[in-house]
Amino acid sequence: MLYIGVDLGTSAVKLLLMDGEGKIRNIVSREYPLSFPHPGWSEQDPADWLRQTVAGIRELTEGFDRSQVAGIGCGGQMHGLVALDEHDQVLRPAILWNDGRTAEEVEYLNGVIGKEKLSAYTANIAFAGFTAPKLLWMKKHEPDLFARISKIMLPKDYVNYMLTGVHCTDVSDASGTLLFDVEHKCWSRQMLDICGLRADQMAAIYESYEVVGTLKPDMAEKLGLPATVKVCAGAGDNAAAAVGTGTVGEGACNISLGTSGTIFISSERFGVDRNNALHAFAHADGNYHLMGCMLSAASCNKWWMDDIVGTTDYAAEQKPITDDALGRGHVYFLPYLMGERSPINDTEARGTFVGLTMDTSRADMTQAVLEGVAFCIRDCLEVARSLGIDVKKSRICGGGAKSPLWRKIIANVCGLTLERIESEEGPGYGDAILAAVACGEYADLAEAVGKLVKVTGTVEPDPDIMARYEDRYQRSKQIYPTLKALFPVLNG
Ligand code: XUL
Repeated sequence: MLYIGVDLGTSAVKLLLMDGEGKIRNIVSREYPLSFPHPGWSEQDPADWLRQTVAGIRELTEGFDRSQVAGIGCGGQMHGLVALDEHDQVLRPAILWNDGRTAEEVEYLNGVIGKEKLSAYTANIAFAGFTAPKLLWMKKHEPDLFARISKIMLPKDYVNYMLTGVHCTDVSDASGTLLFDVEHKCWSRQMLDICGLRADQMAAIYESYEVVGTLKPDMAEKLGLPATVKVCAGAGDNAAAAVGTGTVGEGACNISLGTSGTIFISSERFGVDRNNALHAFAHADGNYHLMGCMLSAASCNKWWMDDIVGTTDYAAEQKPITDDALGRGHVYFLPYLMGERSPINDTEARGTFVGLTMDTSRADMTQAVLEGVAFCIRDCLEVARSLGIDVKKSRICGGGAKSPLWRKIIANVCGLTLERIESEEGPGYGDAILAAVACGEYADLAEAVGKLVKVTGTVEPDPDIMARYEDRYQRSKQIYPTLKALFPVLNG
């Protein structure tokens, strides 16, 4: 049988066709626009997601026996607010995970309601990208629209709804709403009250690998697929990437270098970061995880290459950066192009180059961008280490992980052995695996992951480079605290 994994990303939907043996038979990607209507805001039209997913599934399955498609697993960008009216029409553009408009609401939730209560109700505190502060923002700034909300959905849940007609979500994505009691895997009555919401506005909750329904007949016809195709609940993109890289069970780690950058540590037990710097979420494997999320990771390098340097040949720009240069640069970069989530939780923070001199070269600045992202991943890793979590190796995935240089920098900055996986399509592959499990192709997720996910190469940290980076990292840690108070002044 065949399984479709759909990863609803921030710039594009990436679709993957996998057979029952886990072999990837086809991959397609379709872009859609992202709009920044005000500085720090980030929105998308859910109709674009659906249009490109439908067209993408048709393209993906072209030339294959479509009657063999058994399941679809849809995952994607987390936290986005999709609000539907009583006729299931979208009320406004979706407010995305990297939108920073909710500073006031976050302050209210963390300061007035209080972090302790939030953490007790949901295992997390408020961050600007989370869904609950966006609902409070809508309640204040768009009260008419807020009053008309009939259902609240997350991005991939909207697509699942349009495919099946079922209002559903999965535990991993629900975790990022701040409306979800992560430990007990149910909506938090207290949080719904705080946000002025009713239980009937919330979607039904499933484990990621559970079937939520089959294709609606009109959708099946549009897609050219049998109406018997099962759709599983799917997962937030980081949990899906963790499945796709085999990061399941106790103590496994995955670093994802996508538009966002995340470090994801899976656990068989529920646990909360006592500082709430790391998110404590449910995992797509039925267990839990801790996660640090940087808002701009591979997107920093993309911005630097595409918009500033003006090239698409990233490898050529990275070529002059030899081993000898690693840990010896004098330029530092703060990757806060969209503000920052973990661990500093600061919507006012901004991207910054520090330490430029007359002999600073383009390659030095490229290196600083790659290192700046690595230092922020290390910041999150340090929080995990302070909780007694001993991470020595990690899997790595996402567009940025295709760069051998960036992998080497991260291995040495973090002191981690990095493992690369045969399928580089972390989230899409994970989504297809979830669909295969939902359809009974494998007894459970552990069996599927054990059989399908293969490590193809490792990057070991080098003691000399690691020592040089240790010094650079310790110096770099002083930059943000020194500039913190300045950012709001500069932002006006
Ligand atoms: C995770 C997060 C991002 C988005 C990106 O908390 O906000 O990784 O899921 O798609």
